[in-house]
Amino acid sequence: MDKDIKILALESSCDETSAAVVVNGREVLSNIISSQIDIHTKFGGVVPEVASRKHVEVVSVVVQEALDKAGVTLEEIDAIGVTYGPGLVGALLVGVQYAKGLAYATGKPLIGVNHIEGHICANFIQHKDLEPPFVCLVVSGGHTFIVYMKDYGEFEILGQTRDDAAGEAYDKVARAIGLGYPGGPKIDKISKEGNPDAIKFPRANFHDDSSLDFSFSGVKSAVLNYLNQMEMKGEEINRADVAASFQKAVVSFLVDNAMKACKLRGVSKIAVAGGVASNSCLRESLINEGEKRDINVLFPEFILCTDNAAMIGSAAYFEYTKGRTAELTLNAIPNLKLGER
Ligand code: KG4
Ligand code: ZN
Repeated sequence: MDKDIKILALESSCDETSAAVVVNGREVLSNIISSQIDIHTKFGGVVPEVASRKHVEVVSVVVQEALDKAGVTLEEIDAIGVTYGPGLVGALLVGVQYAKGLAYATGKPLIGVNHIEGHICANFIQHKDLEPPFVCLVVSGGHTFIVYMKDYGEFEILGQTRDDAAGEAYDKVARAIGLGYPGGPKIDKISKEGNPDAIKFPRANFHDDSSLDFSFSGVKSAVLNYLNQMEMKGEEINRADVAASFQKAVVSFLVDNAMKACKLRGVSKIAVAGGVASNSCLRESLINEGEKRDINVLFPEFILCTDNAAMIGSAAYFEYTKGRTAELTLNAIPNLKLGER
């Protein structure tokens, strides 16, 4: 494609309202994020109804700000991309309806984007030369996948969680040890003061060495049991040790399967995506294990790891180049699967 393609993208699948302008899937002209974290912190987690209402309040301001910051008008935009799943249905609907309204009013093509594909594409923004094939470890609050990315927009799922997502386990354990929401960054921080070998939390055993699946509900329950036992015995809990030991169990599981996936597909490139990709222990451990095997480990910068519309603009561009545009009947699909259209 000779002409630059400018995509205006919207993301509202959970508790961030975001709009971005992205050129050719890699260059970010603007990426405005309005976070609702302060509101949901009071409730200890995301309240779906509150999230939807907040999205409605700010969406038009966020979109205008994205255009202004990028210095482009709506007329100069080539297509409008929007997350249509997976996520909270009421939250998704705000972005989808707004994007449909814009597409209808301007006559520009509409592109529906899978949120998880968006997370993966954050790596194309960060690493300008990155091209498929590569293995991608997607670790967010709602999803945990190991994917073989064959080509742009073409995914093969090699492994996934059978119960809780990695970020979900972090959030639940953080709540149990009184760290509050969102728990991932808090466990990351306090773990630095703890001993990761203090408590041995078990890893799920699938009785199948070739499986690249995950399970995190077992380690979460083991932490809860440990806390109960300590309380019953009247012993003091060392929160840093609990956090560090829990984190070691989760990170080692993620890293082992990520390395196995690279071996399985014979690739030496692994990209990490999603909110948990910010985790310092995961980053360090993947880099160390990657070095031992000559595997190049790539991460997006922090702002591109958590929910943002720039990553949606990148994914939308690759859909656009394949001619995959959506009708104005596009609907929010809360349980949209990766690779499903
Ligand atoms: O990708 P994301 O922003 O939203 C979803 O699509 O789910 O991920 C949010 C998740 C939360 O569970 C949060 O606790 C976790 O990412 N997270 C972290 C860190 N930063 C965010 N988990 C571990 N360590 C971190 N530093
Ligand atoms: Zn996300």
